[in-house]
Amino acid sequence: MTKTILITGATGNISSGIITQLKGSEHRLQALVRNPEKAQDLKRQGVELRVGDLEKPWTLGSAFAGVDTVWILAPPGPRAPEQCSNALWAARQAGARHVVRLSAIGASHTAPTINSRLHALSDAELAASGIPFTILKPHYFMQNLLMAAQSIAQQGAMYFALADGKMGLIDSRDISEFAAHVLTNAGHEGKTYTLTGPASVSMHQIAAAISEAIGKTVTYVPVTAEAERQTILQMGIDEWMANLLGDYSAAYSLNWGDLVTDDFQRVTGKSPRSIAQFAKDFAGAFGK
Ligand SMILES: NC(=O)c1ccc[n+]([C@@H]2O[C@H](COP(=O)([O-])OP(=O)(O)OC[C@H]3O[C@@H](n4cnc5c(N)ncnc54)[C@H](OP(=O)(O)O)[C@@H]3O)[C@@H](O)[C@H]2O)c1
Repeated sequence: MTKTILITGATGNISSGIITQLKGSEHRLQALVRNPEKAQDLKRQGVELRVGDLEKPWTLGSAFAGVDTVWILAPPGPRAPEQCSNALWAARQAGARHVVRLSAIGASHTAPTINSRLHALSDAELAASGIPFTILKPHYFMQNLLMAAQSIAQQGAMYFALADGKMGLIDSRDISEFAAHVLTNAGHEGKTYTLTGPASVSMHQIAAAISEAIGKTVTYVPVTAEAERQTILQMGIDEWMANLLGDYSAAYSLNWGDLVTDDFQRVTGKSPRSIAQFAKDFAGAFGK
């Protein structure tokens, strides 16, 4: 059945990947954007632009009109639950029949990171909405490692405050692929999926995979939480986000992220990309 699918966060990592996946399908694709000038590339790909701001609910009525299925993604921030609530309300007003939401690994009211607790608020609101829903809880994105691309390329070193913690990190391209599948296939209503890569690995193992991919030795240098925080602030990242990243580093260094699931494989019938595959695909960014 052909559906009208509205994609929020359309200029970002995961949602733009969903659009790539669904381009050329039978479905009518609409992208919610704040600034259409920034989204000309989406327009060129044949996606209809709907202008709206998730923090301005009065802009969402016309943007959501006529949708069947809605993808809700909000960037991490203190106002994420408000943004998701506004999107959900607009979806309800538009009579949407399925809402799929990007949450995060370990989202719960008792999680050790503020982002996970904020996600839990939006997950709970969606689950109580009465609208058929699906929630995706992805692990740490492999693409976060690109933050270390410069130090890897220039010094052969990557600095993180993750001690020897292991994580079942996932390639964000797999999250987009999974989301595209759920948005366009029946049978996922009422389900929550935890999306991980195929293995839980330490930063030492990740450094080894990147070394192999670029043909040069890369060393993981564990740093203190305070050293990581200072680096993040020097990069111009705000204090809320620096605190959030610190929460995650503390939790992951204690193995909070040491898990893998088979949800990706069970639903798509494919294996998720490994860290070796990611390193190979992004070897150029790491200085090969
Ligand atoms: N990084 C990780 O390891 C990880 C792991 C698990 C879950 N997550 C979750 O992944 C999500 C982030 O996904 P992402 O990396 O794809 O995000 P992203 O690349 O930062 O993109 C965010 C998108 O949201 C849009 N946006 C921001 N404010 C908006 C507003 N007020 N109204 C409408 N649109 C707005 C941005 O549009 P503009 O172009 O207008 O700015 C952009 O398209 C977060 O919920 C995070 O918690 C991340």
